[in-house]
Amino acid sequence: MVKIYIAGHLGMVGSSIHRALLKNPSVELITASRNELDLTNQQEVADFFYRNSIDQVYLAAAKVGGIHANNSYPAEFIYLNLMIEANIINSAFQNGVKKLLFLGSSCIYPKLAEQPIPENALLTGLLESTNEPYAIAKIAGIKMCESYNRQYGLSHGIDYRSVMPTNLYGPGDNYHPENSHVIPALIRRFHDAKISGDEEVSIWGTGTPRREFLFVDDMASACIHVMNLDKSFYDQHTSTTLSHINVGFGKDITIKELASLIAETTCYTGNITYDTSKPDGTPRKLMDSNIIKQLGWKPETSLETGLKITYQEFIRSSKL
Ligand SMILES: NC(=O)c1ccc[n+]([C@@H]2O[C@H](COP(=O)([O-])OP(=O)(O)OC[C@H]3O[C@@H](n4cnc5c(N)ncnc54)[C@H](OP(=O)(O)O)[C@@H]3O)[C@@H](O)[C@H]2O)c1
Repeated sequence: MVKIYIAGHLGMVGSSIHRALLKNPSVELITASRNELDLTNQQEVADFFYRNSIDQVYLAAAKVGGIHANNSYPAEFIYLNLMIEANIINSAFQNGVKKLLFLGSSCIYPKLAEQPIPENALLTGLLESTNEPYAIAKIAGIKMCESYNRQYGLSHGIDYRSVMPTNLYGPGDNYHPENSHVIPALIRRFHDAKISGDEEVSIWGTGTPRREFLFVDDMASACIHVMNLDKSFYDQHTSTTLSHINVGFGKDITIKELASLIAETTCYTGNITYDTSKPDGTPRKLMDSNIIKQLGWKPETSLETGLKITYQEFIRSSKL
C-alpha cells in the first residue's frame, strides 16, 4: 500500500486528484483540511509528516486567484505560497518522502515569452507585474524541488517533480465575483444574466486575446502520470536545473469564442458586447506541451464537454 498525501485536497485540482486516486485500491490517501492542518505553520506541518509515514505527496495547496486578487493582495500571495511550499517540501524530505509533485502555474514565464511557451523560457525575462509575487513563489517551489534533488537525490533516493498547468477550469472552481478566473467568472455572469433576463452581457476588452484552457480532471490525470513516470524516462526529457513540465490543452481560443461557447452552454440568448475601453492583457498565452506529450500524456476532454460538466456542477452546487 502506497501512502499518498494530497495537500489541498478540497481545492479544485486537489479534489480532482483525490477523486482519481480513490479509484486505485493499492493506495492509502492521507488528507487534512485547513482547520486540521494550517500549511503555513512550520511546526504543524513537521508534526503531520512525522506522524503519518507518507510515501508520496501531491502539492496542490496554494493561495490562488485572478488578476484582481493578485493585484490587491501581493503580500499574501508571496508569503503564503512560499510558506506552504517550503514547509511541505522540507518536511517531506525530513520525513523520508521519496516522491513529490509540485504544482506551479504558467505565470512563472516571462511576460514576453515566445509562443507557444517552452519550459526553457523560465527566467529568461521580466514577469507580468500584476502576478509577479505569486510567480516568484511558484518559481521558488520549482527551484526547491530541483535543489533537494540535486543535494539529496542520490544520497536519499528522493525524486521531486514539478508540473506547470495552463488555465484550468472544472468542478470545484471558485465563482467569487471579484477573485475568480475567466471561465467561472463568465459562467456566473451569463447564468445570472439569463436568470434576470438581461439583454446584454458586456465583456472587458476587444475579445481578441487568445487563451488556453484545460479541464481539471485532465490536469489530475497529468499529475498522476508524471508522478508515476519511470525516473530514467523522466530524466531523459528534463535536466537537473530545468525539470518542470508544462501541462496544456495544446490549442488556444479567443475570448470571443470562449464567450460564445459559454453563452451556448448556459443557454443565454442575449447580446454579447465588448467594452474596448478596458485593457486586453497579453495578446496570446499558449504553453508548449510537447514534452508531456512525448512522456505519453494527452488531454481527453474537449472545451465544449468540459464546460457542460462544469456548468452542471455550478447549477448543482448553487442549489445546495
Ligand atoms: N486554477 C487554475 O486555473 C490553476 C492554473 C494553474 C495552476 N494552478 C495551480 O494548481 C494548484 C491548485 O489550484 P486550485 O485551483 O485547485 O486552487 P484552490 O481551489 O484554491 O485550492 C487550493 C487548496 O489549498 C488549500 N490551502 C490554501 N492555503 C492553505 C493553508 N494555509 N493550509 C491548508 N490548506 C490551504 C485551500 O484550502 P481551503 O479549501 O481551506 O481554502 C484549497 O483547498 C495551485 O498550486 C495553483 O497554483 C491552478
